[in-house]
Amino acid sequence: MLDGRPGLVTGAGSGLGRATCLLAAEEGAPVAVLDIRLEAAEKTVEAVRARGGEAIAIEADVTSAEQMASAVARAVKELGGLSWASNNAAGGFEDFMPLHETDDSTWSRTVDVCLKGIFHGMKYEIPAMLNSGGGSIVNISTASVGKGEAFLGPYVAAKGGVEALTRTGAAEYSAQGVRVNAVAPGGFETPGLSLYFEKFPEFKEKTVAQHALRRVGQPREIAEAVIWLASNRSSFVTGTTLTCDGGIGVNPHML
Ligand SMILES: NC(=O)c1ccc[n+]([C@@H]2O[C@H](COP(=O)([O-])OP(=O)(O)OC[C@H]3O[C@@H](n4cnc5c(N)ncnc54)[C@H](O)[C@@H]3O)[C@@H](O)[C@H]2O)c1
Repeated sequence: MLDGRPGLVTGAGSGLGRATCLLAAEEGAPVAVLDIRLEAAEKTVEAVRARGGEAIAIEADVTSAEQMASAVARAVKELGGLSWASNNAAGGFEDFMPLHETDDSTWSRTVDVCLKGIFHGMKYEIPAMLNSGGGSIVNISTASVGKGEAFLGPYVAAKGGVEALTRTGAAEYSAQGVRVNAVAPGGFETPGLSLYFEKFPEFKEKTVAQHALRRVGQPREIAEAVIWLASNRSSFVTGTTLTCDGGIGVNPHML
């Protein structure tokens, strides 16, 4: 599906980002594996190479404009351009607190990673894609944006911003050949979700029951949505959020 077109995934040392890199490699794309944790990024690279794919590890913090500028420049130089990117890095889903107890430092830390990090990604990826003859950006939101999520105020607010920024990017750059979309996941089995269940073990069953499919998703199932949007198979799709949530948005509680 990607036919040799180079890409970059942030937060790719774990969970959904790692799965996206693995599928990208299967679909024929060289990929820059960016994470704040170099060791984690290198593990993803090893897994990609073990499957015969091409990948490079890049250590960068998405909250730093300088680091993101040089990370994108490195990806372009080493992979020969940039045709797609998934801005996936996030944090703050382990800080559970009601709004009236949320302090400014939690707010700023979470919004910095989840929203400013995506802004930095887009800011540097877009010119690189324009220079590569066009491209596709896939930002990662959450299915919780539509209904809110108790105790995760800064995280959900930042993700709402991600969807607004996605539509804005699409409005500004689609005519020049850069499509911008988002994917909104429901619950997926990743180290990120495990943090939540470790803190609130009683919520595991409830979370599963909220999904009409009666299970949480496997990382590969998000990767399928991300890679489709990244590829030319979705050539008429821009400015949208693709919900991939196992039916968390419908109400199966009477069954
Ligand atoms: N897993 C789920 O159920 C779920 C549900 C809804 C949305 N999401 C979203 O999907 C994305 C991936 O989630 P996941 O569950 O795979 O998370 P995860 O915690 O398993 O992985 C996140 C990765 O991001 C990296 N990271 C964190 N801060 C960073 C920074 N400042 N700079 C660069 N890298 C950084 C981490 O090191 C980690 O490798 C996130 O955007 C998350 O909000 C996940």
